[in-house]
Amino acid sequence: MSSSIAIHTHGVWQAPPLVLLHAFPLDSRMWAPMIGHLDGVAVLTVDAPGFGSSPPREEVGLECYARDLVAALAARGIERAVLAGLSMGGYVALAVAQQAPSLVAGLGLLNTKASADTEPARARRMAMVAALEAGEQDLALGMADGLLGSLTRRTRPEVVAQVRHWLGQAAPAGLIWAQRSMAQRPDRAAVLAALPSVIPALVLHGAQDALMTSQDAEAMAQLLRVPVTEAVGVGHLSAVEDPAQVAAELAQLYRRALRAPTG
Ligand code: MLT
Repeated sequence: MSSSIAIHTHGVWQAPPLVLLHAFPLDSRMWAPMIGHLDGVAVLTVDAPGFGSSPPREEVGLECYARDLVAALAARGIERAVLAGLSMGGYVALAVAQQAPSLVAGLGLLNTKASADTEPARARRMAMVAALEAGEQDLALGMADGLLGSLTRRTRPEVVAQVRHWLGQAAPAGLIWAQRSMAQRPDRAAVLAALPSVIPALVLHGAQDALMTSQDAEAMAQLLRVPVTEAVGVGHLSAVEDPAQVAAELAQLYRRALRAPTG
């Protein structure tokens, strides 16, 4: 069992970095279209256990991913970071905020929620785990339509093809680990409520997101005392579907974090 985690650096180094945490079942490459729009921002992208270049993990739970990430950042001398996660990445950002609140210089929650799974959602995850363990292939591919907004599906065939390519490369070990881990994550509303108000925050919801509701976003925004940023023309994978729009929001969050008093 390895606890190493792959972190990729982009742009000129500056502290604190913007740490981007990817969605399920993609990897850190999902941020590639956005990086070019983040001029002047020191960006770190991370691969979850079993995805991209991170080895699989035996220990189940987003908490061990969060722990590995905090340790990997500390090993690079990073004690403050602006964390931004999309969907599963948001769940992990909240787990980091719970474990290491002093690390959080800013928090971006994109297309995600703070609540735990419902029982039916948990059952769907475990059905996927069982199918993967029985050797079924290409299960991630079937998720493409749900991940993308209707506008993207209708007008951006190159984005649809790119996402399908990434989904086709997701390894079963990573898929199984992530589904088990997400199924057992707790509600983390209290983590948001405890975050000091001086910490800049962004809650972004895709107007065509079929997986996260505007109520999910509103609940987080209320706890963080910020408005919901509604990203137009995009679905669940907002940062892939309209990288310029999402990068502008993240760059603004980053600049606010640079100016904010350290808590
Ligand atoms: C994701 O995009 O990361 C997933 O939709 C999260 C989930 O399955 O809850």
